[in-house]
Amino acid sequence: MENELDSPVKPGNDMTRDVAPTAQPEETTFDARLRPKRLSEFVGQQKLKDHLAVFLGAAQKRGEPIEHTLLYGNPGLGKTTLAHIISKEMGANIKTTSGPALERVGDLAAILTNLEEGDVLFIDEIHRLNKLIEEVMYPAMEDFALDLVIGKGPSARTLRMDLPRFTLIGATTRLSLLTAPLRDRFGVTYHLDFYEPSDLTMIVERNAGTLGCTVRPDAAARIAERARRTPRVANRLLKRVRDYADFHGDGTISLDIVDRALRMLEIDAIGLDSVDRRILETIVSKFAGGPVGLNALAAATSEEMETIESIYEPYLIQLGLLHRTPRGRMATEAAYKHLGLAAPERLETLI
Ligand SMILES: Nc1ncnc2c1ncn2[C@@H]1O[C@H](COP(=O)(O)OP(=O)(O)OP(=O)(O)O)[C@@H](O)[C@H]1O
Ligand SMILES: [Mg+2]
Repeated sequence: MENELDSPVKPGNDMTRDVAPTAQPEETTFDARLRPKRLSEFVGQQKLKDHLAVFLGAAQKRGEPIEHTLLYGNPGLGKTTLAHIISKEMGANIKTTSGPALERVGDLAAILTNLEEGDVLFIDEIHRLNKLIEEVMYPAMEDFALDLVIGKGPSARTLRMDLPRFTLIGATTRLSLLTAPLRDRFGVTYHLDFYEPSDLTMIVERNAGTLGCTVRPDAAARIAERARRTPRVANRLLKRVRDYADFHGDGTISLDIVDRALRMLEIDAIGLDSVDRRILETIVSKFAGGPVGLNALAAATSEEMETIESIYEPYLIQLGLLHRTPRGRMATEAAYKHLGLAAPERLETLI
């Protein structure tokens, strides 16, 4: 587990990675325009939005900051977007940091003591906070107090400083890696689920408008269908298809343009890219369908374990192409079918 945490996902530059749901630097500038700013612009996740509207509305009526909130879900489903929306809806300032960025207690102390009443502190990848930092977080979250240890050895003493009432919003792709004491200190936890294709179609159509390009309704639906049920991927595909339309056509995104662009990007009919297929093919051809441990799978595919686990696997599992079993990963019968292969008979009994 330690190793896994120490190896961050590295964004790559090849075509396939360009459409995988990892965050990439271009997003910070370009996607600012595509990022919904208000709750009413946040597409899909209806149950979550209904709950959030009550939660925010009630706090506003009472004139209080909201309770600490934990957002979890696969990459690219809108956790960071939602954290910004929440702070905007509350009329609060947001300060942003991330688990791996907080190395020393002093880093956190500096951030906490600079907060003002009602501010939102957003900690991304909160499952990667180190133990010392986490222990400082407990009283900060619970009692709005910062306990600092002054001096060393027998003369060491603890100094307690009051902090303003702030709201911590934590985001994680890996809820299971959060320690129980930290999890317990969040008042609310929201899970972001994969999106419905109709929601993604709406996102594609809306963002095509923002980007100033014309997309035909069937073309928008096709992009949505291939977007791994993930808004970040839908936006990324839209941009790549728009490039293709500008280069090969008159800029209009038609169904034919989408299909040709997706073929070039090696995205297949169910939205898998070449890495997804390589993962499945490896399990099938090198490990007889599995079960195979994550370690061995990572070595055989030359992908990082963390990348396979948090970027590729969730969608393959969602599609029913891969199973996580206590003994390792297994390709399902549907996976064999998708690869155009006959499944071995023993598969059924193994799963
Ligand atoms: N509900 C939504 N409606 C419209 N666009 C969305 C929605 N959710 C996400 N997006 C778009 O998808 C992009 C990715 O979302 P975001 O960065 O919030 O994901 P994330 O969950 O924080 O991902 P990561 O785990 O990689 O940090 C955003 O830039 C935004 O444009
Ligand atoms: Mg994020």
